[in-house]
Amino acid sequence: MLDSAESYTTEDGRTIGPVVMEMKNITLRFGGVVAIQDISFDIREGEIRAIIGPNGAGKSSMLNVISGFYNPQEGDVFYKGKKRPPMKPYQVARQGIARTFQNIALFEGMSVLDNVMTGRIRQMNASLFAQSIWKCEAEREEVANREVVEKVIDFLEIQHIRKTPVGRLPYGLKKRVELARALAAEPSILLLDEPMAGMNVEEKEDMSRFILDMNDEFGTTIALIEHDMGVVMDLSDRVVVMDYGKKIGDGTPDEVRNNQAVIDAYLGVAHD
Ligand SMILES: Nc1ncnc2c1ncn2[C@@H]1O[C@H](COP(=O)(O)OP(=O)(O)O)[C@@H](O)[C@H]1O
Ligand SMILES: [Mg+2]
Repeated sequence: MLDSAESYTTEDGRTIGPVVMEMKNITLRFGGVVAIQDISFDIREGEIRAIIGPNGAGKSSMLNVISGFYNPQEGDVFYKGKKRPPMKPYQVARQGIARTFQNIALFEGMSVLDNVMTGRIRQMNASLFAQSIWKCEAEREEVANREVVEKVIDFLEIQHIRKTPVGRLPYGLKKRVELARALAAEPSILLLDEPMAGMNVEEKEDMSRFILDMNDEFGTTIALIEHDMGVVMDLSDRVVVMDYGKKIGDGTPDEVRNNQAVIDAYLGVAHD
């Protein structure tokens, strides 16, 4: 077994670094419902880590714990080797962790460009007061933020719709705009909750390519929830399998695919 501080090189030549995030014995309850039951797993730097499992397994809840949306009743989250105290989502975001949502959460009336700009809020430091006095500083910040946003828009190939109100876009493109907004924050960890749900084959292929390129070019660590097993097997370095709030498998796509508990609970049954 690889030590948590060690790195390794994948078959396709990417470097996977030491453990950057560790979930230790996490339990999360909603009243009587145990959404997550004593789950431990880690995420390595530069890794594409998938979380899979049937509906209601607790996958979104797990991403919500990582993003600070929920604080678990039991267990600890370690980030870069340090135990993380209970945090608000904005505090987690400040640490360089960005996310997308299972249900698209964009400003429908705003243009693609403006939506992606909102991903830079964390980087906008100049207060209104400061802006009124040190106009130059605020302008310099605005220019720098624009540069990042334009780079992301180019990268995700959405130049042609930059002025379009998001509400007018087809579903697949909305998902891509949401990804752009998250990427605009220049996160070190990106959490994607079903980035390909509801997409057609071609849109899924595009999204897969963007996820791989992002990981490759910017070294972004990615944790994603995905239902399409083909996509998961192609994309991910390691997979956590959840079922009824419990972890029933954890390993490489091959290991998980051959794990009987996983086959029984997940692969053998149909899902929407
Ligand atoms: N905010 C909430 N309040 C009450 N129950 C919740 C809440 N969020 C999730 N749950 C419950 O927790 C369980 C896991 O849900 P979820 O994490 O959304 O699963 P998944 O993303 O794997 O489909 C489900 O039984 C769900 O009904
Ligand atoms: Mg979910």
